[in-house]
Amino acid sequence: MPPLISRRTLFALPAAIHAAGFARLALAASTLDDDSGLVNLALEASESWAVVGGRQALLQTFNGSVPGPTLQARPGDTVRIDFRNSLGEPANLHFHGLHIPPNGAADNSFQMVQAGESFGYEFTLPATHPGGTFWIHPHIHESAARQVSRGLAMPVIVRGELDEIPEIKSAPDFLLVLQDFNLTPGGVPIEPPNLERMTGREGNLITVSGQLNPTIPVQQDGWVRLRVINASSSRFYRLQMEEHTLYKIASDGGALPQPQALDELLLVPGERAEVMIQGSRPPGSYRLLNLPYDRGSNGMMGARGNGSAIAANSTLLTLTYAGKASQLVPLPSQLVTVDLLRGPSRIRSFTLGQRMGSMQRGMSFTINGRTFDKSRIDTQVQLNDIEDWDFINTMNMDHPMHIHTNPFQVIGPDGAPIPEWKDVVLVPARSRVRVRSAFRDFTGIAMYHCHILDHEDLGMMGTVQFKG
Ligand code: C2O
Ligand code: CU
Ligand code: CU
Repeated sequence: MPPLISRRTLFALPAAIHAAGFARLALAASTLDDDSGLVNLALEASESWAVVGGRQALLQTFNGSVPGPTLQARPGDTVRIDFRNSLGEPANLHFHGLHIPPNGAADNSFQMVQAGESFGYEFTLPATHPGGTFWIHPHIHESAARQVSRGLAMPVIVRGELDEIPEIKSAPDFLLVLQDFNLTPGGVPIEPPNLERMTGREGNLITVSGQLNPTIPVQQDGWVRLRVINASSSRFYRLQMEEHTLYKIASDGGALPQPQALDELLLVPGERAEVMIQGSRPPGSYRLLNLPYDRGSNGMMGARGNGSAIAANSTLLTLTYAGKASQLVPLPSQLVTVDLLRGPSRIRSFTLGQRMGSMQRGMSFTINGRTFDKSRIDTQVQLNDIEDWDFINTMNMDHPMHIHTNPFQVIGPDGAPIPEWKDVVLVPARSRVRVRSAFRDFTGIAMYHCHILDHEDLGMMGTVQFKG
């Protein structure tokens, strides 16, 4: 008897995907077969009815789906996106985590694409760009949380060294885009009241690449690779696979030097992780759980104490054993070299706080006492300098801080950088975190901000100029 596989089972074989119409989770390597060095995409943002979690919802979509299409490229490729904004409001594209220019037609978060207008994005990935899992979302100040929480997110996969390691290459590759929605029974998104925006909105419907509790098959003794993107506007995910160890092989900015065995994995907004899971238990079905997490609150009356809306579903997906691998292959002990950044030429601090905004809008969130102003340059750094940035969180709530354009390494408790490229770091309530970055290759003005997008919209964002 062949194993029973539910209707929602997602195979990693491109042929099976198309036949079953399950193009969402399984990553088809075949879309990169062409060697032209050019990746072209026509992309339209529009308000449209889409299916999320098995129900219709009136969302904001890229090319009609939530999440949007997956863009795949190789280092050195030129990417051209013919972007049309059919929303009734301004939008734009931010290439979260990509090391490309922060200006012109590239990763220009200052660029507004007005309602009904088009914009041609074009950039070339540096030949040395790391492989990894990145994503695209709009970046309009004061609309970011609303637009992302209505579905505007799409994955970007840059192929790299990690993908060529045989033990990893041979594993079925699944892409999990974590999103949460707050919908009326009729499927219309609900805008949160101000107090909830201060905490950071969370929806009670969590979807994985648009689906509710999808099934992923694993062969007994075999491996699966999961690429996970937290594309939610505020929700943190504390992931645990029942009875299985997660072997983390990549972080925000690509591969780790060695696989890291984890019982659970915290993924804050904007963050990505790639994990391998082995079918090492008795055949059966096992749940990927989202455990509770307390992000704190800003102490305002009415803001939820635990800072976390209870989701209707805490099972994100089900791993189901199907078949048996012909041989048991261990993970390699070494993956990809990560060079540590040497000592900094300067240390800066960024204090995260809040202050009373207006009666109507409630609190504003600040960095070094100031709310975002796009016409102000907050920080100037010299191209090719290495700096340490201290994020000092004076509040009783967590802030996941993100920097555009250049990835960083987090400085560990022993004062040494951790060999892992990141672009988002959790700065827990009442604590400080130091990161080290090298500002390479590109001049221009970029942004850094809290990736709880309501906090970014409420002012917790600054500008950094890379000076040549
Ligand atoms: Cu994913 Cu500036 O953000
Ligand atoms: Cu970003
Ligand atoms: Cu924040």
